[in-house]
Amino acid sequence: MEHMLRRPRRNRKSQQIRQMLAETSLAIEELIFPVFIEEGKGIKREITSMPGIYRYSLDQLLREVEECLESGISSFALFPSIIDDLKDSLASESLNPEGLYPKAIIKLKSAFPDAILMTDVAMDPYSSDGHDGLVENGEIINDKTLAILADMALIQAQAGADIIGPSDMMDGRVKVIREILDKHGYQNVSIMSYTAKYASGFYGPFRDALDSAPKHGDKKTYQMDPRNQREAILEAELDIEQGADFLMVKPAMAYLDVIYQLSSRFVLPVAAYNVSGEYAMIKAADQKGWLDGNQVMVESLTAIKRAGAKVILSYFAKEYAQLIKSS
Ligand code: PBG
Repeated sequence: MEHMLRRPRRNRKSQQIRQMLAETSLAIEELIFPVFIEEGKGIKREITSMPGIYRYSLDQLLREVEECLESGISSFALFPSIIDDLKDSLASESLNPEGLYPKAIIKLKSAFPDAILMTDVAMDPYSSDGHDGLVENGEIINDKTLAILADMALIQAQAGADIIGPSDMMDGRVKVIREILDKHGYQNVSIMSYTAKYASGFYGPFRDALDSAPKHGDKKTYQMDPRNQREAILEAELDIEQGADFLMVKPAMAYLDVIYQLSSRFVLPVAAYNVSGEYAMIKAADQKGWLDGNQVMVESLTAIKRAGAKVILSYFAKEYAQLIKSS
């Protein structure tokens, strides 16, 4: 056998060497924890398809957030479950300054001023049609939706949101949101645009959690086609022009190439949303004993980071933080 000069295994020979040479790390500060809220008192309801993830009434939410802060998680993305009676075709409840969502932001901010609160801007949780935009004759109307989204973002900023997260995929929404925020003195409120949000089957458990599935049709005229990568670059260019502070790719695991593309091409930080279905798959396989849930959680989050995400929204955030703290 020939003398081998190059032996990559030397750089893997001990835990210490591997630690020294690790190219990727994921800090707890880089995670955002999505949390579901609902009206009521004393409620902590587990989402069937997302074991370990709950819908909280505001009193319980405060306790949950406190626990997260203790484990080092300080950023949260809030998603409301709105009762059917309050849903209509204009998503009017989203503009109610006394509604569940602004109330939650105000409560959290006054209890935990240093927590980072990210909001969701889209009509679907409040819409009787279950779509992210306004529906007229079965069509999702872009430009009329923009005014509603802008007003929604303003209400959220007034309540104390730190980062506005438009998840609706209407064209031009970052611009109208930036403009309305600036006009009202909220220059310091950031926008994390859902830049490349794909029409994905991985959102299933989330729609169960919020009862927000479209009543008819699908979201393919506004969310992106999973076959496309170049189009994500166009979306990113437009978001940057319109004043976005972060670009987001969603889902994460099946779209690592898109995360890589955006993070190599653009200077803005790229966030990735490790969505409900990605969480559900790992949890289900772990519960069946088919894989080691903790190992696969860390591996998946690390892979998203390695692909180029600076920030990750993940239902694993709290569990990851607790695991890191205990090891
Ligand atoms: C809708 C919205 C969705 C998610 C976040 N905001 C679902 C959808 O587009 O139907 C999905 C998040 C997840 O699956 O974890 N505005």
